[in-house]
Amino acid sequence: MAAAGSGHENWSSRSAFILAAVGSAVGLGNMWRFPAEAGENGGGAFVLFYIFCVLLIGLPVLLSEVLIGRHGQASAPDSVRKVARDSNASGGWSIIGSLGVFAAFLILSFYCVVGGWVLYYVGVFVSDLFQTGLTGGAFDGRAAEDIEGLLPGLFGNGGLMVGLNLGFLAVTMFFVARGVSSGIEWVAVYLMPIFFLLFLGITIYGAFTGNFSEAVSYLFTFDFSKLTGEVMLAAVGQAFFSLSLGVAGMITYGSYANRDTNLGQTSGIIAGADTGVALLAGLAIFPIVFAAGLSASAGPGLMFQSLPIAFQAMPFGSLIGLAFFVMVFFAALTSSVSLLEAPVAFLKDKVRISRAMATILVGAGAALLGVLASLSFNDMAEFYPLSFIPLFAEANFFDALDGVTAKLFMPIGAILTCIFVGWIADARLIDDENGLDGALHQTWRALVRYVCPIALFLILLAGIFPETAAIVMEGIAARFSRFG
Ligand code: PFF
Repeated sequence: MAAAGSGHENWSSRSAFILAAVGSAVGLGNMWRFPAEAGENGGGAFVLFYIFCVLLIGLPVLLSEVLIGRHGQASAPDSVRKVARDSNASGGWSIIGSLGVFAAFLILSFYCVVGGWVLYYVGVFVSDLFQTGLTGGAFDGRAAEDIEGLLPGLFGNGGLMVGLNLGFLAVTMFFVARGVSSGIEWVAVYLMPIFFLLFLGITIYGAFTGNFSEAVSYLFTFDFSKLTGEVMLAAVGQAFFSLSLGVAGMITYGSYANRDTNLGQTSGIIAGADTGVALLAGLAIFPIVFAAGLSASAGPGLMFQSLPIAFQAMPFGSLIGLAFFVMVFFAALTSSVSLLEAPVAFLKDKVRISRAMATILVGAGAALLGVLASLSFNDMAEFYPLSFIPLFAEANFFDALDGVTAKLFMPIGAILTCIFVGWIADARLIDDENGLDGALHQTWRALVRYVCPIALFLILLAGIFPETAAIVMEGIAARFSRFG
């Protein structure tokens, strides 16, 4: 149903909104990126700082974004503009939405590359099921190095990488072209519950069979000396990536929400579900990593290389492996749909073209960048597009897309959002939308006005100038140890 007179689409119910937003948040960020980032950034210090970022920064920013969207009832830049106009402020603030739409487009283009890897593993397990049969472990009789080698094998095949990437993008485009309630909502309402069931089963299985205690101590032992500026920026970037923040996705989804949805409560549910899934994914993957003697800092390959080895030892391994990658595919699809929706909603409103046409145009752009990102793993592995920026000196095209969006676009978008909602927008309009009262409202307001922008600014500086940050952190550590 469209909002009166505006022609803007709406979710069919509050639960559809929650499922779609949780679907956007829960995705490759939780299952693939979180364990990889935790492993590359030393485990416990990263994880605890990540949880701190979700609670004190992510959650307040999430509420700010859905609130802007719900008030604006339009694409992200137009929603920000409407809040600004209704607050007698400059329409120039719509830059928050425009930057976000651009960043969502950049993320979409590398997200679909990883979505392609997921499709590949679905295929691997389907064929293994035929070879190994239903009851035995996966990859009958094959050596662990062989199984680990599947991913580098795929990376070496540029044509296959590009084909899978475009295949995943095409599925995403199909659902976005169908529209909010019959496409995006359909994916979330049917696929997210299946995802949760499968996920729970696999996590419980992993907990009983892997090296669970080592994983728990790796993920939750806090070592202050490991908390460098780079680790902090990586953690805040991961928190934003996982909650789909700073890139217009949640503004766009908020714009389809009805007036009777309590946004404060809904934001809490989204953040809780997302963080729960990330931590459980860590607890499912690291026990297996340690039990199999693999390296925790294996990076992007972690989920794709460690879990298949575990599936080899499990009864019904091929079937469980297949279920796992189908589940990751569902989670990834509900997220990629939201990444595509933000630019599509913008283009459709701006140039007044049909949803289908907007989907094709944005999809074509993402395909182009996606090809370059796919080739970063083979033919273009030595191409470092941002080598002049120290933070991204060794980043290939794929890593550059990932790094620039999570470490620059997302935090900067969030800082601007906090300043806008905390200081520029009319306080009555904000109070009216946020669904919080009393102490909770005061806390949220203080976080958005002071804590989030200042903390984000400092973390951004620390990430960009890690040496200076290290000296400051050492000073703080020395002060603490004197008291200790
Ligand atoms: N939150 C998604 C994930 O964790 O996989 C990724 C994402 C989706 C980021 C949508 C940003 C966004 F707007």
